[in-house]
Amino acid sequence: MKANDLSIMEKLVSLSKRRGFIFQSSEIYGGINSCYDYGPLGIELKKNIKELWWKAMIYERTDIEGIDTSILMHPRIWEASGHVEGFTDPLVDCKVCKNRFQADKINDMKKCPNCGGELTEPRNFNLMFKTFMGPVENVANIVYLRPETAQGIYVNFHNVREASRRRLPFGIAQIGKAFRNEITPGNFIFRTREFEQMEMQFFVNPAEDEQWFEYWKEERLKWFYRLGLKESRLRFHEHIPEELAHYAKKAFDIEYEFPFGWQEIEGIHNRTDFDLGRHQEYSTRDMRYYDDIKQEKYIPYIIETSVGCDRTLLTVLIDAYEEEEDRTVLRFAPAVAPIKVAVFPLVKRDTMPDIAQNIMDDIRGIFRVFYDESGSIGRRYRRMDEAGTPFCLTVDSQTLEDESVTVRYRDSMQQERINKSNIKKFLTRALN
Ligand code: GAP
Repeated sequence: MKANDLSIMEKLVSLSKRRGFIFQSSEIYGGINSCYDYGPLGIELKKNIKELWWKAMIYERTDIEGIDTSILMHPRIWEASGHVEGFTDPLVDCKVCKNRFQADKINDMKKCPNCGGELTEPRNFNLMFKTFMGPVENVANIVYLRPETAQGIYVNFHNVREASRRRLPFGIAQIGKAFRNEITPGNFIFRTREFEQMEMQFFVNPAEDEQWFEYWKEERLKWFYRLGLKESRLRFHEHIPEELAHYAKKAFDIEYEFPFGWQEIEGIHNRTDFDLGRHQEYSTRDMRYYDDIKQEKYIPYIIETSVGCDRTLLTVLIDAYEEEEDRTVLRFAPAVAPIKVAVFPLVKRDTMPDIAQNIMDDIRGIFRVFYDESGSIGRRYRRMDEAGTPFCLTVDSQTLEDESVTVRYRDSMQQERINKSNIKKFLTRALN
C-alpha cells in the first residue's frame, strides 16, 4: 500500500464500520458532523493504546505521577492560560452559500472555494466550546469545555507534588477528553471537535529545560516505534517562530505520513514558566518551587508532551492496513491488537466445540479472546485478519487424538501445532 493512496481512507471508514471499530455518531438521525463512536473492536484498540502510553509514562518510570482532572474548570483558568484571548482561528464566511472556512487554509481570499462567491473579511473565532454552569444563562455563569487537558495538571502542581512528596524534576500525566470547535474538522477521526488527549507535563529547573526537551523528544518518538508504526512514516517537524503557540519557546511535532500528507500526531513543547507564571498572576497563589538542597525558589519550566489518542488510533489503523491478493489484513502489533487470539472448532461435531469452548474459558481472563464456530474455517480466518487478530487456534480431528491444536499466524498465514497445555505459555511469549 502506498503512503499517499487516498482511497485507503474510504476503505478504512468502511472496514471500521463493518468490523466494529468506529461508527458515525448518531447515525440513525443522519449523523452529527465530526463526532464518532468506538465499537467493540475500536474501544479495545483505544484502551490498548492508552494502556501502552500509561505504562510508558507511569509504570516503567519513577518520576511521573498520574491524575484525572475535571473537564469543567474555573473560567479564570482559561483567561490565565491565554485561551480566552488567543485560542482563535481566522474565519471567513461565503456571502452566497454561507459555508465557513479557515482563512489561513484557503489560497484565494477573494473567492469561496465551494461556489466561487464573495467572502467576508476574516474575523477571529474562538475554538472553545462555551456553556453555562447552573440554570441561569448569563455571562457570570459561563464555563468552557477544556480545549486541552494540560491546564488541569498545572493548577494541581502543588497538590500532586505535596501529596506524592516529589522533588523536581518530575512529571504529571493525564488522559482525558478535550473539545475544540474546529472550523474545518475532517479526515475521519483525524480532526474532530471532541477527542481524547494523552498529555504529560514535566516540571524542571529553568536551567535544565533544553536538555529535558531533547530527552522527551527522543523518548516520544521511540514510543511510536513501540506501537509498531513504520519508522519511515514518522518524522520531526520543528515549529518556525510563526507556528509557535502563544505559550511555547520551542516546539517539535512528531508527524506521520498519512494518505493525505505529513501531519502532526504529537506536540512536544517547551512551555517555559508561562503557564505556572500566569496561574500565579491570576490566582494570586504562589506557584514557585522551593529547592531546599540548592536553596533556590523559582517557577518551574514545563516540558510538555501532548498526543491525541484518536489520532494515534487512526495512525495505527492506517499503518496496519494491507490489501493482499485474496485478503485484507490489519497487521497490528500484538500489544495493540483488539483481539489477541481467536478459538475455532474446525467443525460443529465430535466434541470439537466443547474442547474449543474449554480452551476459551481457560484463557479468557488473561487475553482478549474470540470464539467463532460459524462458516468455513477459511472465512473465519479472513474475518480475524480484518480484525487484526495475530493468532487463531483451531481444534480439529488431530486434537481428539493427541491434544494438539493448530496455531495459525495472521501475518505469514503459516500454521503449526502446539499442545493444548502449552497455549498460555505460547500466547504469553508471542504477545510480549
Ligand atoms: N496541550 C497542548 C496541546 O493541546 P496541540 O498541538 O494543540 O497541543 C496536541 O494538541 C495533540 O492533540 C495533537 O498533536 C493531536 O494529536 C491532538 N489534537 C489536537 N486537536 C485535535 C482535534 N481537533 N482532533 C483530534 N486530535 C486533536
